[in-house]
Amino acid sequence: MQTYLDAKRTVDDRALNRRVLDRFEAALTARDGPVSIVELGAGVGTMLVRLAAWDRLPERVSYRLVDRDAASIARARDLVPEGLEDAGYTVRWRDDRDTESATLVATHELAGDDGRERDKPSGLLEETGSVPASATATTTTTTTLTITFTVADAFEIEAQADALVAAAFLDLVDLSAVLESIETLLEPDGVLYAPITFDGGTGFVPIDPLDRDIERWYHYHMDEVRDGGSSRAGRELLTALRRRDWETLAAGGSNWVVRPACENHSGVDEAGSPNSPNSPNSPNSPDSPTTHYPASEQLVLEHVLHTIDDALAEIPATRMPFSSAEQEQWLDQRRTALESGVLEFVAHNLDVLARRKAVVRRL
Ligand SMILES: C[S@@+](CC[C@H](N)C(=O)[O-])C[C@H]1O[C@@H](n2cnc3c(N)ncnc32)[C@H](O)[C@@H]1O
Repeated sequence: MQTYLDAKRTVDDRALNRRVLDRFEAALTARDGPVSIVELGAGVGTMLVRLAAWDRLPERVSYRLVDRDAASIARARDLVPEGLEDAGYTVRWRDDRDTESATLVATHELAGDDGRERDKPSGLLEETGSVPASATATTTTTTTLTITFTVADAFEIEAQADALVAAAFLDLVDLSAVLESIETLLEPDGVLYAPITFDGGTGFVPIDPLDRDIERWYHYHMDEVRDGGSSRAGRELLTALRRRDWETLAAGGSNWVVRPACENHSGVDEAGSPNSPNSPNSPNSPDSPTTHYPASEQLVLEHVLHTIDDALAEIPATRMPFSSAEQEQWLDQRRTALESGVLEFVAHNLDVLARRKAVVRRL
């Protein structure tokens, strides 16, 4: 799981809706003094590192990562300081790193507004944290992040936060119950930022006649078999927020698109369509360009196929409109396409930023 969460970082980097993110940043920076952020279902801490590396956080932030999975929090304790250092932060553990309450303090000096980068082209962390040569900054600000790591169920923590982050999380839990918790955890005028909330689209390229049925039953598993969550969580979140008297400040698509990059003979990477495995230019042909997935994204696709396989295995075969053999063949073809570097994947997600209506102010 931790390997998958780390591997999907670059997919999320591309997918995150920049308009919603801009509004989240504006909401954070509009607050006076230190800002406290709690992230529910934080996994291995990629969102915190991203927000820091993309200079999206105010100057003084306390950031608490909460996940019920101890292995993910243990990995976050390694990956967060590493990622922040890569982004130019100086990090130190305030207490013994191995104690449960250990606090990580990260500081970063940044050239003033003129030097702040926005919307890095590919959004990859490796490319963040640098100041462009053309910057004409005259002032310097120091960002200080005070970070704590908590192994706990999101429904059982106590906190009072200016902002709650729930990335790729609200589609896994009971929406009414989690919103009720969030309302107790947020300061009255605090905001909820819920990016990469799954919203009912799972598709592959090349298209296969069985895709529609596989997708339907995979989503049925999310809705009816899996414990908690929904295949249409994004739009259900928008509905629930309205009913509970929240104002949605911004919402937008954050679709995942995972596809191979194609390195042609000139050595230039281009995100073009891969060649058919049977064509003369197939990746298996001696004359073919090398086809590969960016960063560790092949692992993301392996994980998705594995998850679909596991989900369908939990539904009685007699209920489904395809045989076990057809299902097996569909999966085999997808895995073969993945190994050949020709599988593409699309998932539909929404990013949402919201605040309780009674206290909505103009940002
Ligand atoms: C899909 S992962 C997303 C992780 C991270 N937000 C990201 O985008 O990389 C969902 C995470 O939620 C955590 N989780 C699920 N239910 C939880 C709960 N009730 N309380 C706390 N964490 C939970 C899982 O352990 C997992 O790390």
